[in-house]
Amino acid sequence: MYSWSIGLLLLWLQVCIPFVFAAPAQCPNQCHCHGDLQHVICDNVGLKKIPRISEATRLLNLQRNNLGNLPTGGFGEMKGLISLHLQHCQIREISSQAFKGLKKLIYLYLSNNEISTIKPGAFEDLTELTYLYLDGNQITSLPKGIFSPMVNLFIMQLDNNKLRELQPGTFTGANDLRWLYMSGNELSSIQPGSLDEVENLAILTLDRNKLSTYPLLAMSKLRVVEELNLSKNPLTLIPDHAFRSFGRYMEKLHLNDMALEKMLPMLHVVSAFFP
Ligand SMILES: *[C@@H]1O[C@H](CO)[C@@H](O)[C@H](O)[C@H]1NC(C)=O
Repeated sequence: MYSWSIGLLLLWLQVCIPFVFAAPAQCPNQCHCHGDLQHVICDNVGLKKIPRISEATRLLNLQRNNLGNLPTGGFGEMKGLISLHLQHCQIREISSQAFKGLKKLIYLYLSNNEISTIKPGAFEDLTELTYLYLDGNQITSLPKGIFSPMVNLFIMQLDNNKLRELQPGTFTGANDLRWLYMSGNELSSIQPGSLDEVENLAILTLDRNKLSTYPLLAMSKLRVVEELNLSKNPLTLIPDHAFRSFGRYMEKLHLNDMALEKMLPMLHVVSAFFP
């Protein structure tokens, strides 16, 4: 009896240990998988939480599921992920360390959710992230240093949110950012110092905001701007030397549909760029 139950225990351990200690090497229910689980596609399949995925997976597509909130460490076992698609998932909140362990992630798509809260430390571990899409959400403010792990960030999409102002420290750490899209927000103020860490911006879109004064001090840190869109802001005045720091890189300046009454002497420089 004794040796029989030991034998059964050993058998149980042999069968179960691989499943307890290794991530599942199976395509999650209802999902499609390709290339030995390298691509896992769970587009619009009614998921309510994040499925378990193995370390072999490079691309995970969870678009159009009802995830509601991204908890701490929810992607913890997916250390091989490079591309994560979370558009249209009715996400409202991103907890701190929501992407813990995703040290290889390059693409993160969070567009068209209902994100209003991003907890401090939410993006911890995303040191390789290069493309971040947060457009089409309800973000009113960004915690200081929220992007600080993203030392390789190149493109950030923040179009169509509810941002009201930018403060110093917002972009701390994201020193490589080149393209920053903030069209269609409610920005009425960009405080001096807010853009100091992203001085290499090449494209900056600020159209469809509520800027009534040109944020001269914040903008004067930018040195290599190629394209700036300020259309559809209630700006009445573009001050002298507004674009002087941009140097000779400026290619496109969009100033349509504003309440411009006066543009000081540099008008002759700018007029070359009017459509
Ligand atoms: C600039 O902004 C306006 C207003 O939102 C938009 O219609 C236009 O397409 C933008 N131009 C470019 C080149 O992005």
